[in-house]
Amino acid sequence: MIQTCLFPAAGYGTRFLPATKSLPKEMMPILTKPLVHYGVDEALEANMNNMAFVVGRGKRALEDYFDISYELEHQIAGTSKEPLLNEIREQMRKATFSFTRQNEMKGLGHAILTGKTLVKDEAFGVILADDLCVNENGEGVLAQMMKIYDRYRCSIVAVMEVPKEQTKNYGVVSGRMIEDDLLVVDDMVEKPDPKEAPTNLAIIGRYILTPDIFAILENTKPGKNGEIQITDALKFQANRGMVLAYKFKGMRFDCGCLDGFVEATNYFYNKQHDNK
Ligand code: UTP
Repeated sequence: MIQTCLFPAAGYGTRFLPATKSLPKEMMPILTKPLVHYGVDEALEANMNNMAFVVGRGKRALEDYFDISYELEHQIAGTSKEPLLNEIREQMRKATFSFTRQNEMKGLGHAILTGKTLVKDEAFGVILADDLCVNENGEGVLAQMMKIYDRYRCSIVAVMEVPKEQTKNYGVVSGRMIEDDLLVVDDMVEKPDPKEAPTNLAIIGRYILTPDIFAILENTKPGKNGEIQITDALKFQANRGMVLAYKFKGMRFDCGCLDGFVEATNYFYNKQHDNK
């Protein structure tokens, strides 16, 4: 059983400046719920109940979201507005929330390594909350990955096909197909030039990682853009043992950029209206 889901959320979110000057990107709302709320729902669905956050300066709003706001609770107790808090209360009832700080922004790999203190010596999930995933007709992406983990017990990355010219924005994998939608990874490159990308299979913000990744990250040198890259650590893990890449079922909105954020907003708005 995997209990912990790690949320690296220390990035500056520069693509959403000036909003992210004082608002964590993960708190930007899709309709009335912040991005992080969708991420926690996905982790709960995958039976993880220990939510661990790696945050940076200016991310207090994330901690406050998962805490009781006594004044607010008092003000709206017994009124018609009270049910608006039901969903967040439900998350707080089902899960624990812990936080640690990444003092320097040295990349996603470094953020995950910083989360080591919050993760026991066991496998854990990772959600980048600005990647919002939905699977209308079935289980969420992390729950799909958990099923694969139960069978293979190794690190798994979620991948999707992207147009070749977009490979420069992602970690890209190549590998050998072992089942429908499942590959054993033999190579990984962080943000390759499209001409050099081995495939168009891009890693999105969902991972299951085995705990040996921490020792590997400790010895991983800064890579692309001078940052400690999780892709480099996973490539090492793949060469030494096995890492799987899973072509997930469902949709993913890149809410870290304006187009993806607007698409997600429209999608959820239309869905809400269809259900009325
Ligand atoms: P991004 O590449 O999306 O960076 O990081 P960002 O800072 O969030 O956004 P932009 O590009 O400036 O607009 C991917 C994920 O890794 C986390 C981010 O919070 C995000 O969830 N991250 C990245 C860290 O936690 N620490 C880092 O040092 C780098």
